[in-house]
Amino acid sequence: MSSGQRDAGVSNPAHVAIIMDGNGRWAQMRGLPRQEGHRRGLEALRRTVRNASDLGIQVLTLYSFSTENWRRPYAEVSFLMGLLKHFVEKDLAELSAANVRVRIIGSRDDLAADLRRLVEHAEASTRNNTGLVLVIAFNYGSRDEIMRATRRLAAEVAAGRIDPAAIDEAAIAGQLDTHDLPDPELVIRTSGETRISNFLLWQAAYAEFIFAPVMWPDFDRAAFEEALAQYRQRERRFGGLAAPSDRSVGVA
Ligand code: IPE
Ligand code: IPE
Ligand code: MG
Repeated sequence: MSSGQRDAGVSNPAHVAIIMDGNGRWAQMRGLPRQEGHRRGLEALRRTVRNASDLGIQVLTLYSFSTENWRRPYAEVSFLMGLLKHFVEKDLAELSAANVRVRIIGSRDDLAADLRRLVEHAEASTRNNTGLVLVIAFNYGSRDEIMRATRRLAAEVAAGRIDPAAIDEAAIAGQLDTHDLPDPELVIRTSGETRISNFLLWQAAYAEFIFAPVMWPDFDRAAFEEALAQYRQRERRFGGLAAPSDRSVGVA
C-alpha cells in the first residue's frame, strides 16, 4: 500500500476467514505430486495461525475441506482426512499452550468415527482458552450448513415449539455452525480464483473480499499484512452512505 493513500481509519478485522486455495497448482508448478502441495499447505496453515495471534486477530476461520471436495480422487480425499488427523494429533498441545481455542465447523456425519472423536476432543480440551479462536471448516459447505439449520427450525415448528413468524435472522444465525462466532469482516482467497466456493454464504454477507494472487503454500506474513492493509483502506457502507467527510453530496 503506498503511503500516499488515504487512511480510512478502519482497524484490523476481528474475524478473518481464509479460503486456502492453490496447493495442487503450487505442487504442479514444481513438478511435485499434489500431496506435497497439501503438506506445504499445512505448514502455511501453522504459520498463519501464529501470525493471526501475533497480529491481534480474534477469530481465524480456515476452509480446509469442502462438502464438494469429496468429488476428488479417493487417494486425495483420504490424504486430506489424514492430514487433519495428523494436525490435530500433533499440534493440539502446542495450540492449547498458546491459549488457542479450536472450533470445527461443517458436517460431522460423514467423518470417520476416530476423526469425529478427535475433533470433539480438540474442541472440548481447548474450550476454556481465551486467545485466538481457530475455526477449521472441514467437510463444510454453506448450503449444507443452511440446510441443516433449516431442518432443525422446521422440526421446532412441526413440534409446535416455535411460531414460523418468530423465525428472524437471529434465529437462523443461531442454528448455523457459527452460532457462537461473529461474522467475518474479511475473507481472503489465495490462488487468484475469484469465487466463494460455498464458503460462509450467510456470514460473509457484508465481508470485504481480497483475492490474493499467491498459492496457499506461499501465503506468508507479508501477504497476510498486505491483505490487512488493503482491508483497512476499504470503505464499508453496509447499504448506507459513506462517512459524512467522504460524501461528495453532503447533507446541510
Ligand atoms: C486447496 O488447494 C486445498 C483444498 C481444497 C483441500 P487445492 O487442492 O484446491 O489446489 P488447486 O486449486 O488444485 O491448485
Ligand atoms: C475451495 O477450494 C475449498 C477449500 C479451499 C477447502 P476448491 O479448490 O475446492 O474450490 P473450486 O473447486 O476451485 O471452486
Ligand atoms: Mg482449488
